[in-house]
Amino acid sequence: MFLTFKTLDDINHRGKRILTRVDMNCSVDPVTKQITDISRIEAIQQTLQELSSSKVVLMAHQGRPGSDDFISLEQHTKALKNLGFNASFVDDIFGQKAKEAISQVKDGEILVLQNVRYFEGELKKAPAHEVAQEPLVQELYPLFDFFVNDAFGAAHRSQASLVGFTTVLPSVAGRLVEKEIRTLTSAIGTDQHPWTLVLGGSKVEDKVKTLSRLLSTDRVDYSVLGGLVGTLFLIAAGKVSENYSKPIKGFESAIETAQELLQEYPDVIILPEDAAVKRGNTRIDCDFSEMNNDPFLDIGLQTSDKYVKLIKESAVVFANGPMGYFENEAFAKGTSDVLNAIADCKGITVVGGGHMGAMAKKMSLDDSITHLSTGGGATINFLTGKKLDLVVALEAAAKRMDG
Ligand code: 3PG
Repeated sequence: MFLTFKTLDDINHRGKRILTRVDMNCSVDPVTKQITDISRIEAIQQTLQELSSSKVVLMAHQGRPGSDDFISLEQHTKALKNLGFNASFVDDIFGQKAKEAISQVKDGEILVLQNVRYFEGELKKAPAHEVAQEPLVQELYPLFDFFVNDAFGAAHRSQASLVGFTTVLPSVAGRLVEKEIRTLTSAIGTDQHPWTLVLGGSKVEDKVKTLSRLLSTDRVDYSVLGGLVGTLFLIAAGKVSENYSKPIKGFESAIETAQELLQEYPDVIILPEDAAVKRGNTRIDCDFSEMNNDPFLDIGLQTSDKYVKLIKESAVVFANGPMGYFENEAFAKGTSDVLNAIADCKGITVVGGGHMGAMAKKMSLDDSITHLSTGGGATINFLTGKKLDLVVALEAAAKRMDG
């Protein structure tokens, strides 16, 4: 497959100072704040191994300000050390302390900068030339020879650390970005049906927007919903009380789109038919009318059965986001049923995102799924046909590099 951007094959990185943006955004236990799965760290190993004769500085985000998983990258550095890399951490991003540490990195060493989202300017989303003006980019780029972007999971974000450096440094994709783009391109090349999207989890505002774009492509036959995304649509359909909107960030802006989508695609959007709620410390499977305002933490048994059947009969399945609060075993059933069905499906299957991917691995289903993508939102955005921001930026950089 012809790639429209440059890769590690196109630069001589030996002995060079390389700024490498990766996505090590891991699942984190909300109580202990410990990382619970390092799949995304394992996924960047090939790039880091290939850069083992260079001076590598890693930049990455973890969580979002205000979220339970918004933590420092110290644990990620430890994980890299455990994987055999000569990694160290500096509690700074582009200040004096970071600059000094960067100047001391030697060939074969990896310096991990602090969580880039601790810098407020990183949260701004704007075109590459605009975010390139952020001090993060302006302070750091003169210290490097190359920028390598291997952050596939965040490829749909036009933020300073992801696209800003591509305007000022010779920039190429890392091996993970390359592999994801190649694999996903071939996976969506098929014209087989039924084509099923399984969409759950949180980040509801983002997902509703992407779902709207994806449904307008007519690619999807069934969009099977769960998690907080499912709850939003159940409220929009008047099946579940609006009291259940509390955990949904951005509910107000998403509810109208959900209502419009239900009207426009009544046969494509498949909603849960029953619920599992937490009553006391117990899982209770019930009809929506019996939920009693107890926390809605999983799809119910009837819904699971329906989704399983639909998934197994599909020719193509893309899944992103858990069906419920899978961190609590009693409420992991919907997600594990769906994952087992995906593994049993004889068609092309892609599971994306940190949570679903981690669970598929934990259940040892990786070999039965066509592709475990590190991208959640990035993968679903890819399906809409819109070019990912990271790709647009790397393409522009490639043109500049060719003069
Ligand atoms: C993800 O987990 O989907 C990526 O790391 C991107 O994170 P974000 O949705 O917070 O930008």
